[in-house]
Amino acid sequence: MEGQRSAAALRESFERVFGAPPARLFRAPGRVNLIGEHTDYNDGFVLPAAIEREVLLAAAPASDAKLEVFSVDFDRRCAFDLGRIERSAAEPWSNYVAGVAWALQKAGHKVGGVRIALQSAVPPGSGLSSSAAIELATSVALTKLFGIDLERPALARLCQRAENEFVGMPCGIMDQFIAGLGRAGHALLLDCRSLDFEHVPVHTAEIVVVDSGVRRELVDSAYRERRSQCESAAAKLARARRGIRALRDVTPQDLERHGQRLTEMELRRARHVVTENERTLQAAQALKDDDLQTLGELMAASHNSLRDDYEVSCPELDLLVELALATPGVYGSRMTGAGFGGCTVTLAQRGAVEAMRKELVPRYRDETGLEPMLFATAPAAGASEVIIQRRFIRGAEGR
Ligand code: GLA
Repeated sequence: MEGQRSAAALRESFERVFGAPPARLFRAPGRVNLIGEHTDYNDGFVLPAAIEREVLLAAAPASDAKLEVFSVDFDRRCAFDLGRIERSAAEPWSNYVAGVAWALQKAGHKVGGVRIALQSAVPPGSGLSSSAAIELATSVALTKLFGIDLERPALARLCQRAENEFVGMPCGIMDQFIAGLGRAGHALLLDCRSLDFEHVPVHTAEIVVVDSGVRRELVDSAYRERRSQCESAAAKLARARRGIRALRDVTPQDLERHGQRLTEMELRRARHVVTENERTLQAAQALKDDDLQTLGELMAASHNSLRDDYEVSCPELDLLVELALATPGVYGSRMTGAGFGGCTVTLAQRGAVEAMRKELVPRYRDETGLEPMLFATAPAAGASEVIIQRRFIRGAEGR
């Protein structure tokens, strides 16, 4: 219902800006990661779920050779020449859309003239992957409009390429994959090397997302730095034992035997990745067994490892986790996404969100002076087309 209203409102914005109604509407969700953090670019395992906050996108083909994009959230408009798509420095938000058109062209597909309006309910910079949601919504829209036939995993890869090579952020595959392949009521266990995946039902638990309100500029540079520390550690270990291509291949025994080849910092980074991969596989099994106690413990251990070994948490995220773990009905809690601010994810009994609202929110506010934003979500479906019912379209009744 709410989704239908937002879609109808976006349709109106599109018509106001571009002078004609859109041909079709699409949506793609943000995500939380239950566990498996900073493992995707190490060829490891992740267990994310799509959330009920999403990006909506309205689109119509045009007869010229232009991609024009309008952002309802920024109230800005931006145009790209399809013959020569270049990154926009002035309108960075538009690069997630243009990058996908660029990546489709690079892969040999033909993209025609098109108008796009978008609107996001995924807060930007909060670590819930609003950028992957925009990319996936765009890729589904462009492939449907121009008859391009690509399976979802290939679409996710293409969107990752847009982000890596066009936007310039060296992210892994997790965010694009879950935004494209999420399933309602399920988390997704993904092997980031083979792209084999499995949907795992989330039966009884509630997922609570808490936005710390902290936004750090250094996320991108710290991310790059972590990534290169992992690559350097993997390269050194590969010289010690055959068969190591990435930290995914490293065992705890490898670290014991050959850890002295690494710097102290590389050893800690590698230890996080190696133990996090183990935790993620155990967590997927615990979720299958509906053993939420074990899953919760693994999440808490993941947070500690991210805080101490990987050093991507911050005092505010640590506080949110501590407060969540002290709330009745909570199984586990951890930072989610790249870190340095953004959100935590908490797994709890149904209804625990109310206790969190009453106890965690005022204590966090008192200690930090920040207002946390909190919501419960069920795992949502990946990107799809949205069909608006006629009764939500203004003036449609009489037509
Ligand atoms: C960001 C990246 C992902 C992943 C996470 C950390 O969200 O986009 O690819 O690396 O950080 O797990």
